[in-house]
Amino acid sequence: MGEFVIAGGRPLTGSLQVQGAKNSVLPILAATILHSGTSVLHNCPHLRDVDASIRILRHLGCRAEWERDSLVVDTAGMQCCEIPDHLMREMRSSVIFLGAILARCGRADLSMPGGCELGPRPIDLHLSALRQLGARIEEGGGRLRCEAGELRGREITLSIPSVGATENAILAACGSEGTTVLMNAAREPEILDLQRFLAGMGCAVQGAGTSTVTIQGRSPTHDSEHTIMPDRIVAATYLAAVAAAGGEVELRQVDYRHLATVTGALHEAGCQVHSTGDAVLLRSSGNLHSIRPVRTAPYPGFPTDAQAVLMAALLRSRGATVFVENIFENRYRHVDELIRMGADIRVEGRVAVVCGVDRLQGAQVRATDLRGGAALVVAALSAQGESRVSCIHHIQRGYEDIARDLRMLGAEIREQ
Ligand code: EPZ
Repeated sequence: MGEFVIAGGRPLTGSLQVQGAKNSVLPILAATILHSGTSVLHNCPHLRDVDASIRILRHLGCRAEWERDSLVVDTAGMQCCEIPDHLMREMRSSVIFLGAILARCGRADLSMPGGCELGPRPIDLHLSALRQLGARIEEGGGRLRCEAGELRGREITLSIPSVGATENAILAACGSEGTTVLMNAAREPEILDLQRFLAGMGCAVQGAGTSTVTIQGRSPTHDSEHTIMPDRIVAATYLAAVAAAGGEVELRQVDYRHLATVTGALHEAGCQVHSTGDAVLLRSSGNLHSIRPVRTAPYPGFPTDAQAVLMAALLRSRGATVFVENIFENRYRHVDELIRMGADIRVEGRVAVVCGVDRLQGAQVRATDLRGGAALVVAALSAQGESRVSCIHHIQRGYEDIARDLRMLGAEIREQ
């Protein structure tokens, strides 16, 4: 298990292009199953979670090969509709394959996806939506045995705007007879990117990005190409790093609208933020101040995935900032590690209060999960002295090469 060695306390300056979005490419890789042929995905990030998805596709009988930053997936050879436990457990979001396999094969046999570091990750909304489309799903022995016979479109309302349940329902509806109207759908930009991919393949999906998505099932599909959207959470991470350490950064080819709540918070904390057509510029003195309470919420609210990195950016700010984590039960596991660097944070249930300190001290810390690990890197960049961040495999699930990217901004960070 590698670790990052970081020498903090120096400003960051430079320009970089943000990788393709993990939370877009993962559902899109599942969606390739809907077409018996070839899908070419450009700007595909090289991530541990993408590798896990490729292993699942190959187990199902598909071909998936890298051509530099493009992934060529050919599902014509698919002849299997079950995913074994060891592959399901590699990645929490592997349940996203369920809807697509049902749509393609009429049946699916998966093991229950594991929980994860963020707490229990229920899939009741996924299963409810698929059952409403006509799937018969037996849960038992840690497995999901699904028979779909013939899926039929209908109106479905999600009790909460779950991102994964929205995506699973859309993919299953693409293989259903008739029209499906999905109400209270999640509105994350990654769902709009999924819709763009599906439309490019011939599927008839409309309304993604709003609360109501309409799918005309059984459209003829064809080979297609798609460019994965930029990763807004990776962008938020790098903005938080420069906000914390001080300096100036230009992030190219990001959609500033997807970052509005994050750039709004950083601006309120004292950073200068400018957005052009496809770039975001941020300048920071490194001396920030506290901001109004940060409440995570479904898009377009403040993203839960950016909570940890914004917290890391505010550790040395003047005053106190309240965080309320409304999406996941256990998303403050990075707090104890930040306290080892000298941060003053108190957690009570879903609420964390960050009281700014004058300085942070480099320390040996351990990544507990993907975004919590990224927060440790952000904090280490603004700490005095050397930090070592271990268990970086968590971070590599979602960041193609965070050390390479930050070195392009002048950071002293290496992997060993
Ligand atoms: C997606 O997870 C993202 N993952 C997460 O990003 C992100 O934090 C989350 O959406 C919220 O934006 C991917 O896209 C691969 P949800 P997902 O279903 O789909 C509850 C990262 O760091 N829920 O919107 O699993 C659930 O427990 C990752 O990149 C149910 O109760 O999130 C949570 O409290 C972490 N029943 C809330 O809904 C269900 O059937 C939102 O979860 C499904 C979800």
